[in-house]
Amino acid sequence: MKFTLDTTLATGLETACLVIGAFEDAPLHASAELVDQACAGELQELIKSGDVSTDWKGTTLLHGLNGVNAKRILVVGCGEIEKFNKVRYDSVCLSAGAFLREHATTSAHICLHEIEVNQTTDYWRLRQTAVNLGRANYRYTATKKPKDHDNPPLLSASFNAGPDMQTALDEATGIAKGYIRSKELGNLPPNICNPAFLAETAQEFADSYKNVSLEILDEDQMAELKMSALLAVGRGSEYGSRLIVLKYQGKDEDSRPVVIVGKGITFDSGGLSLKPGPNMEQMKFDMGGAASVLGAFEACADMQLPINLICIIAAAENMPDGNAYRPGDVLTSMSGKTIEVLNTDAEGRLVLCDALTYSQRFNPTALIDVATLTGAAVVALGHHASVIMSKHDDLAEEIIAAGDTAVDRGWRLPIWDDYQSQLKSTFADMKNVGGMAAGSITAGCFLSRFTEGQRWAHIDCAGSTWIWGGAKGSTGRPVGMLTQFLINQA
Ligand code: BES
Ligand code: MN
Ligand code: ZN
Repeated sequence: MKFTLDTTLATGLETACLVIGAFEDAPLHASAELVDQACAGELQELIKSGDVSTDWKGTTLLHGLNGVNAKRILVVGCGEIEKFNKVRYDSVCLSAGAFLREHATTSAHICLHEIEVNQTTDYWRLRQTAVNLGRANYRYTATKKPKDHDNPPLLSASFNAGPDMQTALDEATGIAKGYIRSKELGNLPPNICNPAFLAETAQEFADSYKNVSLEILDEDQMAELKMSALLAVGRGSEYGSRLIVLKYQGKDEDSRPVVIVGKGITFDSGGLSLKPGPNMEQMKFDMGGAASVLGAFEACADMQLPINLICIIAAAENMPDGNAYRPGDVLTSMSGKTIEVLNTDAEGRLVLCDALTYSQRFNPTALIDVATLTGAAVVALGHHASVIMSKHDDLAEEIIAAGDTAVDRGWRLPIWDDYQSQLKSTFADMKNVGGMAAGSITAGCFLSRFTEGQRWAHIDCAGSTWIWGGAKGSTGRPVGMLTQFLINQA
C-alpha cells in the first residue's frame, strides 16, 4: 500500500473514502467539523440519532453527504473521551483498516490522527495509523486465491498532514512491511514454510535490500560447531535444519550490533513426546519468533536505520521418527554444557541454546531471543502481551517501553536464581524441563545458562504472535515491539 500526504481540505478532496472519527460525547476533530459544516450539521444529527455509531471501534459508512466531494465517508467510533488513550486509538485505526480491507474502496484519505490522544504526538499518531492500515490490509492468499467477488485491498492511503511528516510515513511503510512479512510466514503451512523456506526468505532480503549480508549454516556446518542440541531437535524431520545469520550494517563496521535470535520451529509435533491431536495444526506457528525477527529485520533494512543488526534464526522441524532424539538422551550443547532430555516437546530451548551460544561471537550490545517457547506464557498473560524476562532491568525496561510505544505490549516475569534448582538433573548439567511450576520462567532460566555475561533478554511470544482457534492466524507480533526497540537504538 502506498502512503502519501495531502493537506487539501477534507471537504474539497476528491477521494473514494474520507476517514474520520467521532467520540460519544466530545466535539468533532478539525476535518470532521469541516464535514459537518459543509453538510449543514447532518453529520452531527446522524451521530445524535444513533445512525452513526460512536461506540469504540464502531464503523459507519456514509454515502453522498451534501457539500463534501468524497464519495464515501467512513466514521469510526472512538467511544467515551474519558476512556480514550493510545491503546484505544490504536484499535480505532486497526478497525478502520479492517473495514477498508473488507469494502470496495481501493483508496482513502485519512484524518484520524487529528484526534488528540494523551501522551502522543502528531508524529506518533500518523505513523501508528499508517502502520495499522497496512497491518489490517493484509489478507492470506498464498494457498487460497481470493474469489472474484471478494473486495480488493486498499492500494493507497493519503493522510491530512504536511510534508514535514514524510518520515512518519517512511517509518510506517517499513514497520507495516515487517508485520506483513511476519504474518505471512506465520500463516504459511508447514509443508511450505520449512527451514529451507525461512532461509530463502533471508536470501530475498540479502538480494533486495542495501547493506544486508547473509550466511546460512547447514547441518554439516552446525555439526562442525558442535551444535548438538539444535541438531538433535531436527533429526526426526525430513527437512534439514538451518542456522540463518542475517547481517544488516547501517553503521561503521566496528560498532557493536544488536543481536536478535528467533525460534524457527516450522512445525512442532512434540517429537516422540508427541502432542495431542486436537489443535496440533496450530504448531505451524512455532516459528512465530523467527517470523517476527525476520519481519523486524526487514523493517530495519527498509528504513535503513543507522544501527548494526544481526538476526539469527534457529530453523528446524520437531518430528518423531526412527532417527528422532529421545527422552533420556543426553546432549552436549555447543557451550559444552550437557542437557538431559526429559521431554522432546521442550525443543525450543534446545535450538535456542546453541543459537545463543553462537551469537556471542558478535559481542552484542543487547542479545534478545524471541520465541513461542511455552504454553505457560499463554496461561500467564493470554494474547494481550508477550512475556519479557531479563536480569538487566534497563534492558527489560527498554523493551517494555518500546512495546508500549508500538502498542505491542510486553510484561515482565522474574528470572530469579531461585527457580534454577528446578532444572537439576541426575545425569547431566541440567534437564530440559522444569516441571509444572513457573513453566515460562524455568524455560527462561534454561536459556540464561547460555547467555552468562551477556546483556540478554528473552521474549516469549507464544500468546501474542497468533490468535488461537484455527481461523484467525498470525498477528505478526512482536514486530512492533522489536522495530520500536531498534528505532530507539538508532
Ligand atoms: N511450542 C511449544 C510452546 C507452545 C505451546 C506455544 C502451546 C503455544 C501454545 C513448546 O515447544 C512446547 O511444546 N513447550 C512445552 C514445554 C513443556 C514440555 C515443558 C509446553 O509449553 O507445554
Ligand atoms: Mn514443543
Ligand atoms: Zn515448540
